[in-house]
Amino acid sequence: MSIQRLSYLGFEVSDVAAWRAFAGARLGVMETSVGEDGARFRIDSRAWRLDVRKGTADDFSFAGYEVDSEDALVAVRKRLEAHDVAVTVEGPDLVADRGVLGLVSCRDPAGNRVEIFYGATEMFEVPFVSPIGVSGFLTGDQGLGHYVLNVPDTAAALDFYIKGLGFHLSDVIDWKLNNELTVRLYFLHCNGRHHTLALLSAPAGKTLHHFMLELNQLDDVGLALDKFEADRAIVATLGRHTNDHMISFYGATPSGFAVEYGWGARGVPPGWSVVRYDRISIWGHRFV
Ligand SMILES: [Fe+2]
Repeated sequence: MSIQRLSYLGFEVSDVAAWRAFAGARLGVMETSVGEDGARFRIDSRAWRLDVRKGTADDFSFAGYEVDSEDALVAVRKRLEAHDVAVTVEGPDLVADRGVLGLVSCRDPAGNRVEIFYGATEMFEVPFVSPIGVSGFLTGDQGLGHYVLNVPDTAAALDFYIKGLGFHLSDVIDWKLNNELTVRLYFLHCNGRHHTLALLSAPAGKTLHHFMLELNQLDDVGLALDKFEADRAIVATLGRHTNDHMISFYGATPSGFAVEYGWGARGVPPGWSVVRYDRISIWGHRFV
């Protein structure tokens, strides 16, 4: 028994006000709750998908993965424990905070917090409305999107996410950063989305390299591209990736890590084989 999809992401951010403005006006996500020390955002029928909390890290805080039932949650916990991972069964306060029916948590080998739950809150009675008219985000069976973690030991992280949590390797890119340095990127899937998580070990940088939101229409990406260009906040130009074929650009967030804003990715159909690539992109994605 393994996890079904990524449901939510949490970030620790130094400037909550900047994130509230950025999330609405640049990402087009819908603010659903604001507290003294943070805010939450919706991108579909779920009660929340992104959580920003005041702190000093300006980096990844937690990822929430969904299973279909209480039995599945017990099975994932047992699978992790059989893999020598310490799992915490979370109490009613955190369960209520996340708006779920049952929740366990653990840390990956790099110390990144992973939450697994069943029973997310749906809010069909309050339809998702983008403050900037984004047509919609591609979620559903593929979950929130994807994120990329920079970890000190990719072998240990792969062991945890594949053997512990049940991810499958999609493919590998040997990413040539310069003449001296090539970094191997590992792309992992847990459903039809080409990758929900990617792992690399880079010599510098934040734990969260970027997170990705997938739009329903190419025009959503183009309209956002214009806004990020006007802000001089482009991290990488428009391009198409070699592995998932997504057309996307990368923009700067108020916390320094990047957001990938994309459209048109291919999935991993039955019969998919692990492959490798020497380039991250077919065209574009020039880092600014
Ligand atoms: Fe990405």
